[in-house]
Amino acid sequence: MQKKRLGILTSGGDCPGLNAAIRAVVSHASLTYGWEVLGIPYGTRGLSGRKPPIELSTCDGRGVDPLLATGGTILGSASKGYSGESVEAILTGYEALGLNAIVAIGGDGSLRIVADLAERGGWNFIGIPKTIDNDVGLTESAIGFDTATNTVVDALQRLSSTAASHDRVMVVETMGRTAGHLALHSGIAGGADAILIPEVPYSIDSVCQKIHDLKILQQRHFALVVVAEGAKTLSGESRQYTDAQGNTRLRGIGDYISDGIYHRLGDRVEVRVTVLGHVQRGGMPSAFDRILASSFGRVAVDLLAAGKSGRVVVWRAGDVESVPISELCAHCPRLVDPQGSFLATARGLGTYLGEFSPVFERASAARLQQSELTASQV
Ligand code: F6P
Repeated sequence: MQKKRLGILTSGGDCPGLNAAIRAVVSHASLTYGWEVLGIPYGTRGLSGRKPPIELSTCDGRGVDPLLATGGTILGSASKGYSGESVEAILTGYEALGLNAIVAIGGDGSLRIVADLAERGGWNFIGIPKTIDNDVGLTESAIGFDTATNTVVDALQRLSSTAASHDRVMVVETMGRTAGHLALHSGIAGGADAILIPEVPYSIDSVCQKIHDLKILQQRHFALVVVAEGAKTLSGESRQYTDAQGNTRLRGIGDYISDGIYHRLGDRVEVRVTVLGHVQRGGMPSAFDRILASSFGRVAVDLLAAGKSGRVVVWRAGDVESVPISELCAHCPRLVDPQGSFLATARGLGTYLGEFSPVFERASAARLQQSELTASQV
């Protein structure tokens, strides 16, 4: 009987852990089921025949498999689902490669695109979610999020010592698109004094109030403000610009917040801005991302072996499950729940999180009153 041939591709923005997922798919497919695995380069571009496929095999056993620990993707990726290739070329390319099934590792946009192609072409398809934004629906974690969170926490740790040495306010801009998971999780773990996320509008006045409170009430002359690139003002504005190709990109919120603080507090505080940018997408995957990627890869192969298709693997309550792609897409993007536990935790730590909760606002007003009293007494 002819060997089954499985294709695997990565699509959308890269992140740490993609190679660990590729490794798991290749190992399990070849060792457990005896299938061949073809790496499809640069997402759908490779399917259209514009790039030759890569034969993938398991590590030769002479050392530690580098795929487990390296960032990026050995297959390459295109940041958009399509890169100009026609649907017909992709469907023909898939047939020409003699594939029996495809595993796509991507964010919600890319997974949707490949699932759509799979439906048109009648392909067997399983999706694996990845993104440092962690905004894919129905999964508590996507590959790359944990590592990116650790990267931001590491940066916060480094910035807090220099902030303390110079009595400065450090504004740290994170990625995340329209979701605040990365800023919120890293802000909690990194001890941020204010965390501004797209889901909860912020007020610069309140950020300044927080800085003032820290000084007056806690005699702390430095502060860490973490701001997600998509954070919005009370009137719903985020900071964006249009690049030379006409794409709208989120950029500039860190400087905007810094200027806002300066305009209100003037020389009473010194502010510096760090934009972490694509640093958040690089580096070695964390232990959790390696486990997640390996588990996702293993289950993706088992699903195909069991004749399942059109599904995406997800992480729930410490284990892998799978859901139909249509169900997953109906829950995208997955945003931070303003009533959820993580915001409650940050609030419990006294972090300024935006202007969403009457209870929080009342507490802020009381603190302000108290700090004014204290200030007038000194
Ligand atoms: O979706 C992942 C992400 O890193 C976002 O957080 C960010 O806004 C975007 O991709 C950056 O995209 P690019 O790599 O195309 O600049």
